[in-house]
Amino acid sequence: MAKSARQAQIEKAALYPLEWVEERTGLVGGMKFFLFRNVPGDINWMQTLGAATLTAFLVQAVTGVVLAMYYKPDPNSAYESIQYISNDVTLGWLVRGMHKWGASLFIILMFLHMARTFLFGAYKYPRELNWIVGVLLLVTGMAEGFTGYLLPWDQTAYWATVVGININATAPIAGPFIAQFLQGGAQIGPDTLAKFYSLHMLVIPGGIMAMIGLHMFLVIRLGVTSPPWSKTAAGRPRDEAQPTGYRDYREGLIREHEGEES
Ligand code: HEM
Repeated sequence: MAKSARQAQIEKAALYPLEWVEERTGLVGGMKFFLFRNVPGDINWMQTLGAATLTAFLVQAVTGVVLAMYYKPDPNSAYESIQYISNDVTLGWLVRGMHKWGASLFIILMFLHMARTFLFGAYKYPRELNWIVGVLLLVTGMAEGFTGYLLPWDQTAYWATVVGININATAPIAGPFIAQFLQGGAQIGPDTLAKFYSLHMLVIPGGIMAMIGLHMFLVIRLGVTSPPWSKTAAGRPRDEAQPTGYRDYREGLIREHEGEES
């Protein structure tokens, strides 16, 4: 059915902000490419584990922001503030529960995703750097779990952190320095709690977000690997008819453009 002049006018007005942004940044086209890019036809559910890990991280970020609105990083009030969140704040028990259980889920999903990329050979050329970024994400993800564990400031939190810091102290050469840095004094106390809080809600999440950005950029640029049983699996020559990454997409556009000109 043909659009009336009025409909066309409304459509134009609605799309104007998008066009404004696109003209100045190219972000709309970039997002379109990200959402509608070609992936190999034989990818399967195991390849959604990375997106599941990303979702778990986003849930941690959102619930963590809410918890930070009520939590007090001070030895005299940390434990009480956690009790207050669980018992008195509206739906506080739910947000805290999601953050606490979500932390384990995030780590488990990261391991499953890593196992998938390993078994599919997705760490091979040209994705070695993405594997390295992944390993850094795994280490920082676990550091996030370790620093968060102290924050409830109860007996379990305290003694688990004593054990964790002592394990760090046994590392060769750097061990005692790492332990001293983490502890921030002769024993675990107010300075340790403040330091862990800062690491847990600023430093480490900031690093993780930056690395996820790089990780996703490389996934988009290089395309997704096919399963090992596929003809286009990692290490085998790619099927030219099946573009995957941004480079293929750009080359395709150039070819199309050249075709139009001749
Ligand atoms: C915060 C943690 C992480 C997030 C949010 C994340 C996210 C993703 C996403 C969405 C993808 C594309 C879809 C997929 O293949 O599932 C991907 C691919 C990839 N990830 Fe991760 N990842 C994380 C951690 C890791 C870890 C721990 C490793 C390995 C040590 C890793 C290595 C890779 C590799 C090699 C690819 C390319 C896979 C391919 O081309 O088939 N990632 N990641």
